[in-house]
Amino acid sequence: MSNNENNKREVEIDQERLRDLVAEYSTQRWPLIPLLHKIQDEFGFIPPESIPHIAHELKLYPSEVQGVISFYAQLYTEPRGRKTMRVCRGTACHVRGGKTILKLVKQYLGIDEGETTEDLEYTLETVACIGVCALAPSLVIDQHVHGKMNPKKLEQLFKQEGEQHEST
Ligand code: FES
Repeated sequence: MSNNENNKREVEIDQERLRDLVAEYSTQRWPLIPLLHKIQDEFGFIPPESIPHIAHELKLYPSEVQGVISFYAQLYTEPRGRKTMRVCRGTACHVRGGKTILKLVKQYLGIDEGETTEDLEYTLETVACIGVCALAPSLVIDQHVHGKMNPKKLEQLFKQEGEQHEST
């Protein structure tokens, strides 16, 4: 897996469907946030090139639409991985080797924090605390917590992940 700065170009957007969604929501009261969520649910992200059209249909400025997207951390204008891997960089994890775990995760995935793998399988994030400090150092893949990580366990985890990926 490796980083790809051009993920956006690899995701095909059904423009007709996108326009239908904008038209459908534009008749509603307070449509912007529900529309953005709907677009993201359907396409995995909000294509930046759709912002002027959304703004026009909702009688807003593009900067207002962009401002709302920027405000909500859960709205994205770039494709995300099918899975989100969050590595804890909180104090409890840090003192138990979290920094090494993060470094190894970056190596395995070939990406940095905030990036998505070329195959759109993973997005890597770090978090201040996962809330399972007793299991430090820890990481989460979607909703699944993996605690007491060490290089060996991490290697096994990526092996399992790779096997799951191949079987799907
Ligand atoms: S500091 Fe890592 S889980 Fe709390």
